[in-house]
Amino acid sequence: MKTRETWGTRAGFILAAAGSAIGLGNIWRFPGEAYEFGGGAFLLPYLFAILTAGIPLLLLEYTIGRKYRLGPPSAFRSIYRPAEGIGWWQNAIAFFLATFYAVIIAWALSYVFFSPSLAWGDDAGAFFGVEYLRAGEPLDFFEYRPAMLGALAAVWAVVLLIMAGGVRKGLELANRICIPLLLVLFGVVVVRALTLEGAAEGLNAFFTPQWDKIGDYEIWLAAYAQVFFSLSIGMGTMIAYSSYLKKHSELSTTAVTVGFANSSFELLAGIGVFSVLGFMSGEADVPIDQLVGTGGGVAFVTFPTILSQMPGGAFIGVLFFATLVVAGITSLISMVIVPFSSFEDRFGWSRKKSVLVLGLPMAAFSLLIYPTANGSSMVDAVDFAVSGYGLVLGGLATIVLAFATGKIKALAAEANRTSMLKLGNVWYTCLALTAVVLVYTLYKSIQGQIAD
Ligand code: PHE
Repeated sequence: MKTRETWGTRAGFILAAAGSAIGLGNIWRFPGEAYEFGGGAFLLPYLFAILTAGIPLLLLEYTIGRKYRLGPPSAFRSIYRPAEGIGWWQNAIAFFLATFYAVIIAWALSYVFFSPSLAWGDDAGAFFGVEYLRAGEPLDFFEYRPAMLGALAAVWAVVLLIMAGGVRKGLELANRICIPLLLVLFGVVVVRALTLEGAAEGLNAFFTPQWDKIGDYEIWLAAYAQVFFSLSIGMGTMIAYSSYLKKHSELSTTAVTVGFANSSFELLAGIGVFSVLGFMSGEADVPIDQLVGTGGGVAFVTFPTILSQMPGGAFIGVLFFATLVVAGITSLISMVIVPFSSFEDRFGWSRKKSVLVLGLPMAAFSLLIYPTANGSSMVDAVDFAVSGYGLVLGGLATIVLAFATGKIKALAAEANRTSMLKLGNVWYTCLALTAVVLVYTLYKSIQGQIAD
């Protein structure tokens, strides 16, 4: 049998796991969610979810991956034969998420090139075609369709090239280059944001708790969904990544490091985005809450508008959108590894075959579907379905499986073989609590949807 390729170094795996976690979810998704769900009141459920669900689930996925050294379907199958389906469910989620995520990276990439000339003029909304995204007529952005398609093709070309390189020369190398670059780019952008006039107002809006909202199950579901999305859990990504770990790799401090790095990045992104919104609100004399929205709104409409009014905006624009691209690529490859590792481990495919038979069709789907009229309106829907339900269900199924098969103890023992922090009752309790919270919020949410 061929020996399985492994990560070259411990740092290599940590960088890759952090690279997967830190992505568009931190910069593009988190600030809007936090604001929409009660500003400071969102932070509490969010932190609670990181500690009790995020880190424990990271550990669960790392352990499963390292123990079985197989892509998600085969790993689940080794735990309990019929559970293979969980892994294929995660493949379906990965397919939709990756094909849509690439589109957002492509938007960002095209904006790297639009920024120097502030190409959106004085109507960034029309330029982006936000009306169009929300059901109106096609507008200017789509006259840029060649740019969009070119950007999307470039994103996929880079991703498939990285994938073709395998673990060390592909995934690990890409993260070694991208993560330091990301820190520099992002650092400059946040410092600039914080030194803008009005930044404090923005931060107030971000950090002011709306306590009356804390009891809403929607906030809790949103916080859990954000944590799942942001830490890349529930989709088998971390199972796939850790299936390339060496048997003796340490897990617990890695999970804590990744969780901490991701949240720090996320909070900093929130601080950066809200500083800029504070500036904008002062300039335009508009209350902040009218400036935020999720999705395309903040990054591709509000931001460009602000860049046009800000000294040095063109330069910051290039850095900001490049940050999105770099952060996005390191996450996108971790989504694509899910189907790749699944088919390779289940059906003995070679990497070359995966690139041709899985990678190219994914790229084609992404290119053919999303830039079209109906496709672009799918972006929000896919984000909602995938992150709101898909990942959360994947994570829930993993927990239920571990407990129901009684394998949870064996998994803890496997992790404890090398872990500095020993997994035991606290870990079991956190996982069980997570399952209960998820079942409850999902139930409430479905009930709510039916009632509407
Ligand atoms: N964590 C990534 C982000 O924050 C998204 C992601 C989700 C990546 C699931 C892999 C798996 O953008």
